[in-house]
Amino acid sequence: MSPRLIRFLFYRLCFVVLATTVSIPSYSQAAKKSSINRPWMNAGLSPDERASLVLKEMTLDEKISLLHGTGMKDLSPISPLAKGSNGGAGYVVGVPRLGIPDIQMSDAAYGVRESGKNGRYSTALPSDIAAAASWDLEAAHEYGALIGRELRAQGYNMSLGGGVNLTREPRNGRTFEYLGEDPILAGKMVGAVMKGEQAQHVIGDLKHYALNDQESGRKAVNVNIDKRSMRESDLLAFEIGLRESDAAAVMCSYNRVNGDYTCENSYLLADVLKKDWNFQGFVLSDWQGAHSVAKASAAGLDHEEPGEIFYGSAMKAAVQSGKVPLSQLDDHVHRILRSMFATGVIDDPPQKGVVDVEQGLAIAQRLEEQSIVLLKNENSQLPLDASKIASVAVIGPHADVGMISGAGSAQVDPPGGNAIMPPGEGATHWQDHIWFPTSPLREIRALASHAKVQFDSGADAMHAAELARNADVAIVFAYQWESEDMDLDSLALPENQNEIIEKVAAANPHTIVVLETGTAVTMPWVNKVSAIVEAWYGGSHGARAVARVLFGAVNPTAKLPMTFPRSEEDLPHRTVVKPPDASTTHGEPDDWKIIARGLPPFQIAYDEGLKVGYKWYDAEHKQVLFPFGFGLSYTTYSYSELRVTRGKDVSVTFKVTNTGSRDGAEIAEVYAALPEAAGEPPKRLVGWSKVKLAAGESKEVTVLVDRKYLSIFNVERDAWQLIPGGYTLLVGGSSQDLPLKQSFELP
Ligand code: BGC
Repeated sequence: MSPRLIRFLFYRLCFVVLATTVSIPSYSQAAKKSSINRPWMNAGLSPDERASLVLKEMTLDEKISLLHGTGMKDLSPISPLAKGSNGGAGYVVGVPRLGIPDIQMSDAAYGVRESGKNGRYSTALPSDIAAAASWDLEAAHEYGALIGRELRAQGYNMSLGGGVNLTREPRNGRTFEYLGEDPILAGKMVGAVMKGEQAQHVIGDLKHYALNDQESGRKAVNVNIDKRSMRESDLLAFEIGLRESDAAAVMCSYNRVNGDYTCENSYLLADVLKKDWNFQGFVLSDWQGAHSVAKASAAGLDHEEPGEIFYGSAMKAAVQSGKVPLSQLDDHVHRILRSMFATGVIDDPPQKGVVDVEQGLAIAQRLEEQSIVLLKNENSQLPLDASKIASVAVIGPHADVGMISGAGSAQVDPPGGNAIMPPGEGATHWQDHIWFPTSPLREIRALASHAKVQFDSGADAMHAAELARNADVAIVFAYQWESEDMDLDSLALPENQNEIIEKVAAANPHTIVVLETGTAVTMPWVNKVSAIVEAWYGGSHGARAVARVLFGAVNPTAKLPMTFPRSEEDLPHRTVVKPPDASTTHGEPDDWKIIARGLPPFQIAYDEGLKVGYKWYDAEHKQVLFPFGFGLSYTTYSYSELRVTRGKDVSVTFKVTNTGSRDGAEIAEVYAALPEAAGEPPKRLVGWSKVKLAAGESKEVTVLVDRKYLSIFNVERDAWQLIPGGYTLLVGGSSQDLPLKQSFELP
């Protein structure tokens, strides 16, 4: 026996003797003890029971501490960032005495934010609008699960992702963070993302509630819209998202709706969210979106971020003087506590670890491959056959080194810094154009290994055209950058990119355009190029996914979650309504005081009402560039044999056949035209199914349509109503290609 082994056995023996003579409480005994002292730690009780038990023990100060954040470095001097912050946008001090942990919040729209500053790494997934283009609920769940895992590995227990404002105004600078223009698609997708996040035991959050559909003047604008329109459009997306996911938090937005700031809007918070939808979680303000104590509290704001202008000592005084009833305060606290129990952040707190980089890259690539929309493919220009191509011209700003990403609080930091900066100088700043180090040139070279692949940035369009002239194919990478806190003035590609495409297309009949955009773009060159691929903001491995689509390793399946209009002239509003100068602030240190008091409102009338996106173009008989739900594939599909059966849900059965020679997956879409008396736009999406089909294969597909999706919101009755009459269901591969049709009567 080795001396080491003898030593080990001796110590082990001593331990056993000690453990049997001196009583060392086991883990389970300790847990039992803690659940005796802290009965709320009994996971067998419901989240509400557990929250009530904690609440009974809390002092007024402890309650108040849960109702507000503790500041944000960039927003000092509102309040300093407390020491225990994990470096995210929000930090709430818990109640250690009672075993209630801190809440560590991070932005996480397409990945965890501010990892660079905190010396960490996170995966950038394809932007949210890209995720919506997959129309794939499993993929959306995986999207959320990855974010949830990376949040936890970085020490966060709450996500501030979940943006689901409808694309009512495609120039909105945050369109890339949202899930498109249809409430049912966006609602189901955000629901799946949130379910994926919360399954990892982080608190999920839907935002920005509600009608924060433009960024210009977001802290001042008063959105005017009728109730029916908001219930059937923007609010429906939130309603579905919450129903599908049980997301524990909702962030109220900066703007006003019909006169009141959303964070003190009793219609939105008390009547709709908490009463009608029975939301049991908590409402937190957008950062500096709170404007009062008693009014906000009565309306249903539960928590203020990032500081405590209203929900700190002012709230305490209001409770003590009776201006805010104690029962109201308790309700706010109860909602926060029950959310913590319900999502598992108390029973299973995050453990810091190393983010799984390899797994993240693989998932980001796979999700992007499912999100790339093939918009045009004349003469089967794509996929490219690497064995037959001798030369490729890769053209476009920074297409040699990276792909663009979306900015603002959604920004994920690229490893090594901004790819267009010299090494070591890549720190990222608010509203920089950040390029991820995923190089289209390198990935194309890897797949076209026998071809001569050359690059031109396009800075001189003529020069780029010369390169294109002598190549077998020209691939132009065009980008459009977007950010929070700004809107686009137009949907045109920035810089000289339209010129580059025109000149390259004139020089080479095999010109392919790859778009890296966060929203729709106008395409004056649409008829001159042979193929167009919408890659959105492609995430950490975007370029590899794009190259695999171009060279046919991946057969595209995605479809547009928003309409691409022909021009801004066709939008409901010719220009984005901007705030008059007087109502904006100017970056002065005391601006927060002015914002807190409330900026003078300026008005916007969303008088297109429920005609959002394709509903607008359909109703107004406007032609579009590419319709909602549109996307090509390297194979083709046909539809037949529609049957509609009326039951609790309406059941829609039909056959889809892959009529081409490649395996693929078709997103089969179901729309409904309501009876004339409903007074609705011509049709609405009511369901879909993504069907995998081998070449030549047929499958019968059934889509169940919830009757609510066939209903309208009746304002007098304050309820959804199915209008009796003739309905038509339409089925096909895009909102403008619906070969199957069947009419029937309801109810
Ligand atoms: C944004 C939110 C974000 C918050 C915290 C705000 O400016 O509107 O979406 O979660 O900042 O960073």
